[in-house]
Amino acid sequence: MPACRICQTPFEPFLEFGEMPIANGFLTPEEVEDEYTYELSVGVCPSCWMVQLVDHPDPEQMFHDEYAYFSSTSEGMKRHFRGFAEWVIGDLLEDRQDPFVVEIGSNDGIMLRHISEAGIQHLGVEPSQNVGEAAVEKGVRTIFEFFDRGTAEEIVAKDGPADAILAANVIAHIPDLTSVLAGVETLLAPEGRFIFENHYLGDMLDKTAYDQIYSEHIYHFSLTSVSDLLARFDLEVIDVQPQPVHGGSMRYVVAHTGVEDPTPAVEQLRDRERSRGLDEPSTYKRFADAVQRSRDRLRDLLSKLRQEDARIVGYGATAKSTTVLNFCDLGTEHIEFISDATPAKQDKLTPGTHIPVKAPDSFREDYPDYAILFAWNHADEIMGKETAYTRQGGKWITYVPQVAVVD
Ligand code: SAH
Ligand code: TMP
Ligand code: ZN
Repeated sequence: MPACRICQTPFEPFLEFGEMPIANGFLTPEEVEDEYTYELSVGVCPSCWMVQLVDHPDPEQMFHDEYAYFSSTSEGMKRHFRGFAEWVIGDLLEDRQDPFVVEIGSNDGIMLRHISEAGIQHLGVEPSQNVGEAAVEKGVRTIFEFFDRGTAEEIVAKDGPADAILAANVIAHIPDLTSVLAGVETLLAPEGRFIFENHYLGDMLDKTAYDQIYSEHIYHFSLTSVSDLLARFDLEVIDVQPQPVHGGSMRYVVAHTGVEDPTPAVEQLRDRERSRGLDEPSTYKRFADAVQRSRDRLRDLLSKLRQEDARIVGYGATAKSTTVLNFCDLGTEHIEFISDATPAKQDKLTPGTHIPVKAPDSFREDYPDYAILFAWNHADEIMGKETAYTRQGGKWITYVPQVAVVD
């Protein structure tokens, strides 16, 4: 039996997806033969309630100099991180003399560029060289490293302690959380704040958003599991702020223990998680059953449409779609191609299912009958700019929270 990465308690997986490729491992036809796979399954620790993968690829296999996810591809995310940075500058750092900000997983500089433009001392820690270089071009000081205890010690020695450590959609990606939090403990100034946000377990369960489960998402956080984890360090959650991005996220504001009283929102969310059963195995069993039903419905819908000779394309070659496509066993017999605005993904094949990824021009030049929205978390932005598609009769297919055709 696998053991919890946080507290070593044995646990059983509640959901098994079978063999999976790396979620962002878009590939060329020549690379298909050697494609790497692993067994994707997820479980919950019956002691600290951390939801986690059983197995995963090595971080170096996922994050390297050809990483396919460029954060700034979505206008909505650019706005979100401008807002995040403005809150850090205007609120959090307001009274600090010559503050220093570190971001873990700074990607193409979507957030730190604003900190840099404000003339604030900063450092991005980003192991994927290609996306990190895009940040450097925006004036973001970046080191190409995996953040861990050792990196944190080097940063403190060179630059001193950090007034703010920021991390979006990255902490849940790091297998060795003990090393990360020991690093945060060391790097964070006595009065500093560690602010991280990730997709939120409660939303994933509510929306049957099983596509959040993929190679990079080693963990699925709740306040319950995060609090247990932080209590093992000189760190505690002092505020929680729900965020609408990535299908429902949670921002955790963390300080050294005892520095500031937690806001009432922390206790309220803790109660809410208890009442919705995040600490009950039956909750996860119900989710697993809903996932099986969702798969059957999506497969049935796409098969029926294809029997009617409808043309279906995908919209957004997301990491999330790798789980859906492989788990539902969908290939080019169902989906002609997937449109994506990221140059690094275009003219490649989707991991495992080998569906071609094409630039949005291909979608706009010859509209299909149906477009399945793999980037459902960006629905407003995408549907907002593709009104010409719907006006001429095109339909959207979604599967979160339910499989449905949207006119
Ligand atoms: N913060 C951005 C990027 C999220 S994608 C956003 O929210 O859009 C996750 C990023 O974390 C990738 O760029 C990846 O290279 C980086 N990453 C993965 N493991 C890391 C680690 N141990 N330390 C720092 N960055 C890491
Ligand atoms: P994400 O859901 O992980 O942020 O990934 C979104 C993907 O969708 C990413 O590859 C960029 C792509 N995308 C488009 O192709 N067009 C768009 O309008 C938006 C918002 C995203
Ligand atoms: Zn545990």
